[in-house]
Formats: sequence, C-alpha cells, structure tokens
Amino acid sequence: MSTVSGSHAFGHAPMDHCPFMPVFGPPDIMFERGLGTELWDTDGKRYLDFLAGIAVVSLGHSNPVVAEAIADQAERLLHVSNFFANPVATEAAVKVNDLMRDATGHAGQIFFTNSGAESNECAIKLARKHGGRGRHTVVSALGSFHGRTLASLAATGQPSKHEPFQPMPEGFRHVAWGDLDALRSAVDGSAAAVLIEPVQGEGGVNAATTEYLQGIRQLCDDVGALMMVDEIQTGFGRTGRWFGFEHADVSPDVVTLAKAMGNGMPVGACWARTDVAAAFEPGDHGSTFSGTAIATAAVNATIDEMQRIDAPHLAEQQGRRLVDAFREVPGVVDVRGRGLMLGVALAEGLDARQVYTDLLEQGLIVNAVDPSTIRLVPPITVTDDEIDEAVALIADVLESHVALQTSEGGNQ
Ligand SMILES: Cc1ncc(COP(=O)(O)O)c(C=O)c1O
Repeated sequence: MSTVSGSHAFGHAPMDHCPFMPVFGPPDIMFERGLGTELWDTDGKRYLDFLAGIAVVSLGHSNPVVAEAIADQAERLLHVSNFFANPVATEAAVKVNDLMRDATGHAGQIFFTNSGAESNECAIKLARKHGGRGRHTVVSALGSFHGRTLASLAATGQPSKHEPFQPMPEGFRHVAWGDLDALRSAVDGSAAAVLIEPVQGEGGVNAATTEYLQGIRQLCDDVGALMMVDEIQTGFGRTGRWFGFEHADVSPDVVTLAKAMGNGMPVGACWARTDVAAAFEPGDHGSTFSGTAIATAAVNATIDEMQRIDAPHLAEQQGRRLVDAFREVPGVVDVRGRGLMLGVALAEGLDARQVYTDLLEQGLIVNAVDPSTIRLVPPITVTDDEIDEAVALIADVLESHVALQTSEGGNQ
C-alpha cells in the first residue's frame, strides 16, 4: 500500500486515495484551463507553460482553430471501424504523406496511432517484417527514449527503466549516442533497423550532428537496414524545420510521429516509404482507434494552421530569441538544442530539480530533464513578451540559487 502523502493535487490524503495508478508520483497542481502559453490552476493561479504538455500543444492551449475543428467533427462523426474509410482520416493521411514527401523526397504511406509508443511499436514490427526471419534486431542509442510499451521500452536506451520489467523482449541493442564506430560494430547482418532521435529529448536535449545522421544513413544503406527516425518530440516544426532529420539533409526510410500532431488530441503515426510499407499485409497490424475521425480532424486543423503561420520558421525565430535572452543569465553555462526545443545547462552545483520547483512556485512551467538541465519546449506560438517574462523569472530564481551557493561556499 502506498503511504506517500503530502501537499499534492489530491490534497493531503495518502496516495492510495488517488484515482490514478502511482506511476507519475503525486501531482503537484491541478490545471483546469489553458489559452495559448497560459494555464490556470483550480485556485485561479496563472502559469506560463514553457513545457507545452511536453512539446504537444505547439499551437498553444485551446487553439481556437483546432478546438473548432474538433467540435464540428464531434457533431458529424466520431468514429467508424477500420473495415471502412472516412474522409477526415484520408485527408489527414494525404497531408502527412505530402509533408513527408517534401521532407524525404519519397512517396510513402502512414499508419495512424494513438501515442508515440504505438508509432514506434508499429515501426519496430514493420522493420521485423521487412527484414525477415533472422534479421530482426533494432539498434538504438543509449540515453534515447522511445516509449513505455514493452517493445518501445526495449528500444529505449535507459537500462534502469528496463530493470523492473525483465526479461525484456529480445532483439534490441544499444550503443553510445553520437558514436558512429560503436554503431558500425552493432549494425551487422542481423540488424533490421537503426532507430534514432534527431534531438534526444528525454535524454537531456542533445542534437545529433549532421555527420552522425548522415553516417547512419550510409551505414543502413551499406548493410540493408532501415533508417528509422523518431520524430515524436521533434516533429511538426519544433526544431525549426518540419522534421528534425531535415537539418542533416538525410532521407530516412521510416519516421514516427505523435505529440504535436493533433495539438493535444492523442494521435500519432508511423510513416514509411511505400516500398518499405509494402512489407505489411492485411492482418499484420491494426488498432481500433487508428485514424478515427475525431482525432484526424485535429490533425487536419493542426497541419493547416501550422502551414498558415509557418510554424518551423516561427520556432526557429523564437528559439533564437530565447537563446539570445539567456546570454546574460547567471548560472547558465550552455543552451543547447534546436529551434524551440532547448536544454538550459546549469552551472556545477545548481540543482535543476530545485530550480524547477522554485519556478513552478513563481508560475513558470519547465522541466528538469536531468540533474543539471532544464528543458524548454514552449508553444511555437509563444510571444516575445512571454519569452521575456519567462527568462526574467528564470534569471531571478537562478540568481538566488547562485547567491545561496556562494554564501554556502563562503561558510565552509
Ligand atoms: C522521442 C520520443 N519517442 C517516443 C515517446 C513516447 O511517446 P508517448 O508518450 O506518446 O507514448 C516520447 C515521449 O516523450 C518521445 O519523446
């Protein structure tokens, strides 16, 4: 029985009175309303959201275009089974395939999912079917994050997350991030695919270099393995291009998507070049909610709106503004990442978790992605004033942490 108690969103009751399984720890705050970059909790306190549901609401909370599309669709048709087609999902599939064709230079096909983990699950099954018997290994990087279903967790390069669930499914190998030689030793004749994030998100906001991604492409070509890129966090403009791999001018065979794709509607996709997708036959894969009308209405509205505002350009521009604003902030040693997917590296001795807690108190939502890095992934629609306000709050909190560190150092 869980005995965790304290000040959390469910009051002071023990955590076993919480209606949710205890996988996220006691939630701190209960949010009931959002608009753009702003959120309000049940006490009416306002927050600036520089986490955006972890890179999900790229067009801001309650985006009116997406909200209207969802409301209209809800009155017309929510769902039909995949024995039948619906025009909304068909339109969304064409839109995503068009974006992917522009980015990769290849025609392709998609399978709609309900989450990022399911997008990777689909990609892993496709790689196994495409590779054939004896050629089923998926190679990924240490520090990567690919999801929480058993196969996507097995692909995730974080052994501590595997431990409680051993034995993990077999057929997964992990190599040091950014190390092409390590990858060359791991990608042998048994490799069906390499699965890689263009910017590791959960792993600390680490951007892959052009040489790394181009080297992976070459290696996959040499051994006949698929290059699969996990764009679940980086996709849909977040990094300053529609997809993160475009920064390296490479063309992957399979791309997995989710998060920002429906601006908060739970929807994702696995895209593959048509000749790769052809490995799947009827009955090989499926999902009740794949391409449901209500979710794909959100996809259509999100993509249309992102195109209208040129989301990749905005992310690039506002990301630059954010990086520039950090030049004078005490306690910051580096700002890494791409576009509006940034990791703020703190000076030695500063505790990102404590900084996160203090910022939350001040009404700014970020996240401590590792003990010394704060991740910023605000809505792409974030305004100049909101960036200035957030950086001022971070500067204040860091200043007090640096002052405390100095006085503690002086007292030793
Ligand atoms: C790169 C990446 N892949 C996969 C996932 C899993 O997505 P989901 O939580 O929607 O299953 C995430 C989630 O954070 C992610 O960042």
